[in-house]
Amino acid sequence: MKKILGTLSAVAFAVGASASFAACDAGERVVKLSHVTGGTTHPKVVASNNLAERVNKEMNGKLCVEVYPNSTLFGDSKELEALLLGDVQLLAPSLSKFGSYTKKYGVFDLPFIFKDMDAAMRFTQSETGKGLLNSMEDKGLVGLGYWMSGMKYFSANKPLMTPSDANGLKFRVQNSDVAKAMIAAMGASPQPMAFAEVYGALQTGVVDGQENTWSNIYTKKFFEVQDSTTQTSHQLLAYLFMTSKEFLDSLDAGTRKQFLSIADDVTQKANLSVKEKEEANRQNILKAGGTIRDLTPAQRKQWVDAMKPVWKQFEKEIGADVIAAAAAS
Ligand code: SIN
Repeated sequence: MKKILGTLSAVAFAVGASASFAACDAGERVVKLSHVTGGTTHPKVVASNNLAERVNKEMNGKLCVEVYPNSTLFGDSKELEALLLGDVQLLAPSLSKFGSYTKKYGVFDLPFIFKDMDAAMRFTQSETGKGLLNSMEDKGLVGLGYWMSGMKYFSANKPLMTPSDANGLKFRVQNSDVAKAMIAAMGASPQPMAFAEVYGALQTGVVDGQENTWSNIYTKKFFEVQDSTTQTSHQLLAYLFMTSKEFLDSLDAGTRKQFLSIADDVTQKANLSVKEKEEANRQNILKAGGTIRDLTPAQRKQWVDAMKPVWKQFEKEIGADVIAAAAAS
């Protein structure tokens, strides 16, 4: 890749995406990385662009990564299918979006299983966590690493201080059985929906609330169409940085080794700066006029008590041993 990163695609430009992708030269092996997030400060945007920059600089055209942000190439519903068809080679979907391929990743969605990001990172680096990377090998899907994103917080069109405030409200969730059960446990109604549709659904009242990280709430401007966000930290958002077996097998041994080494390094560096990016985006929400509400310990306990019974519901399909390892982290 001889050209400098910074070329905006016509499509990305049209939707206001500020992330960039490289223009590859003729004869270079193009590797497409598609994702659904946007802005410039989002951990997934930064990690994706760093990967492109490193591969394109260091691999001298053996591979050239093009990054398609903001669901401009594939959105939530199509990206895994597209990977298996060879229409894209790299993805980083939320671990909540693999229900049709493996139930094991439900562990990452269990409410209050991780005290904070450090606990989640300890789990992903444990033997059990590393083992889960390969949960879908029989389907031709290969996990290259976990890209952490942040803890999740509830927002709604009214203040949410206790679970009873959520009674009867409709919440957008990712397409995850655990997330659906968790919302039902709050006496609310879960509405699975693609990420690209969330802002419009909040704005028009199709749903009353949603749950996400500071980086998504800021870069997708959800705070503009919500009363406030409550610091619930009830769940993790992390991504599986992944490829297909077909793509990896198509690389000669030297190219594969160099690519995997860069991918690993980019993953480690990305995870080191996630907490900082989340805090910066929390501050960005406040600066832009968004409201963030704190919970007292007694209010937090009410959320934990309402949602924790969900663990038991999924023990069989996730595995009691996997849940215990995650909780112990
Ligand atoms: C993402 O961060 O990739 C999207 C998360 C969501 O669908 O809420």
